[in-house]
Amino acid sequence: METKQQALADIHVEDYRAQYRGKEVTASDMLFTGVRERESLDGLWHYAVDPYDTCLREHWYRTEKRLSAQGFTLPQDYSYDEWPVMALPCCWNTQQDRLFWYESSVIFTRRFRYLPKKEGERVFLRVGAANYTLRVFLNGRFIGSHTGGSTPAFFELTGNLETDNRILLTVDASRRPEQVPTDHTDWFNYGGIYRELELFRVPRVFLRDLFVRLEPGSRERIMITARLSEAAEGEGLFSLPELGIRETLRFHAGEATAAVPASPELWSPETPKLYELSCSFGEDEVRDRVGFRQIEVRGREILLNGKRLFLRGVSLHEESLEHGKAVTEEECREAILEAKALGCNFMRLAHYPHTEKMALLADELGMLLWEEIPVYWAICFDRPDTYAEAENQLRELILRDRDRASVVLWSVGNENADTDGRFRFMKSLAEEARRLDGTRLLTAACMVSADNVIADRLAEVLDVIGLNEYYGWYSPDFRQLSELFQNSRPSKPVIVSEFGADALWGHHGTIDDKGTLECQEEVYRRQTLELGKIPYVRGMTPWILYDFRCPRRTHILQGYFNRKGLVTADRQHRKPAWYVLREFYEKKREEE
Ligand code: GCU
Repeated sequence: METKQQALADIHVEDYRAQYRGKEVTASDMLFTGVRERESLDGLWHYAVDPYDTCLREHWYRTEKRLSAQGFTLPQDYSYDEWPVMALPCCWNTQQDRLFWYESSVIFTRRFRYLPKKEGERVFLRVGAANYTLRVFLNGRFIGSHTGGSTPAFFELTGNLETDNRILLTVDASRRPEQVPTDHTDWFNYGGIYRELELFRVPRVFLRDLFVRLEPGSRERIMITARLSEAAEGEGLFSLPELGIRETLRFHAGEATAAVPASPELWSPETPKLYELSCSFGEDEVRDRVGFRQIEVRGREILLNGKRLFLRGVSLHEESLEHGKAVTEEECREAILEAKALGCNFMRLAHYPHTEKMALLADELGMLLWEEIPVYWAICFDRPDTYAEAENQLRELILRDRDRASVVLWSVGNENADTDGRFRFMKSLAEEARRLDGTRLLTAACMVSADNVIADRLAEVLDVIGLNEYYGWYSPDFRQLSELFQNSRPSKPVIVSEFGADALWGHHGTIDDKGTLECQEEVYRRQTLELGKIPYVRGMTPWILYDFRCPRRTHILQGYFNRKGLVTADRQHRKPAWYVLREFYEKKREEE
């Protein structure tokens, strides 16, 4: 019951967010969701734009109606179910013009019914992604918060559920220097709850994690690691019928590992073979479809299933004109098929974790993936809370996708200045990635050093050096491109993770006219000619498959878009450079 004094006090609380600290959900709260039964909360939610965070300041979530001590209703500044509705998941920016540039807080609320199905069941809300700070309230109580704009969040609702429930979510899309990424990026800051909202019911003890893969260096042994929601003892069962595997898992302190002899057909982009599997413990059972393959580095070569490989790639932001970052499964499929048409066997999902749909589709369609966390440009490398934020996003990404055969590289960042603080920060991230997953390669997109050589110190903790270079665009002199590679003696494979040029569809001129289709085509011709000769360049992901929205790009030829796409943002037109790259990749494929 709010009193007048309380209402006045609310107005004068300066650090109103402090009361919502201490219930952060992180990677440790994740549960294994592979092919689990789920109930969707997608659909129409009432919403209010809340730029002053009045809901958090005045605790709107506590009551449907504010009553005085005498039982009179007090003036109220909110009216949940009379608010307009928005269909979630979505980015609010694409829903209506007045929200296109909006980057602050929005409140979403709805009611839902809950009837227990099993005695003692536990109920979790999974939010696929919300950008950037999400807070969850259920039946007047604060449940928890999640920060990070591109990874899933799990909130346990058990014990707070009624038959008829009021759920309220607040999302703050504000960009802040201490966040990951900071307030300065080269992409559009979409806001919202933009991936699925789902309820999961699990038994008291359930499978929190399952990791199934070939033992590193082997093709005849499958490794299984399973983790429970608590340090329980007992036996579980792992089953992979197509390989005749039924393996008892012996859990000690909530963990079980097993290595099982098996000779699976190996997964590759050309032969994307997936196996149905299941794992159970007590009343809990999970299922998944997993491919088995080996990815490794030998000297300056990258090998897939023991065969040297050139990664014919392209970079991709998570965006469609119509849905912003809330891309649909069909738009994901379209992007992968467009990359295949380009001759790609590889895609760099820049600069943050994309929807899990991408890795699931890449497993199915046969596409290798580079996945990345947004440690982008000038992060607060000396701030412990910022490191914790970055590490948690990395953990959430790896625990979400490490059963996906298509994912072969984890990237811990992009284009960060080579300072001591950044080295410590990124080295720790690399160590954490290896601790969670020793089966994949570590990389980051580094920059060319001032004396035009590949010399980023971070390379010593990476398996593959990512390198962004823009000769022919930001650095006009192409002679420096060949000098760069003549000056450099890397001991590891290099993937040129970015090169490219802006070009507006329909804009023509000479090869020297920046922004023309001819200039972009010439950049691709010269870049592929040079890169194709460098023995230790074992892949490339030119920047970028589609033009994309970018508030930093205001030139008349850009119109708030970054026009380095090989295809227009509406996905209707392939630019001439697309054909140059495809011809290069056709040659590369023939050389294999
Ligand atoms: C940088 C950066 C990209 C950016 C690109 C560009 O390398 O990594 O995020 O969009 O260059 O300038 O177009």
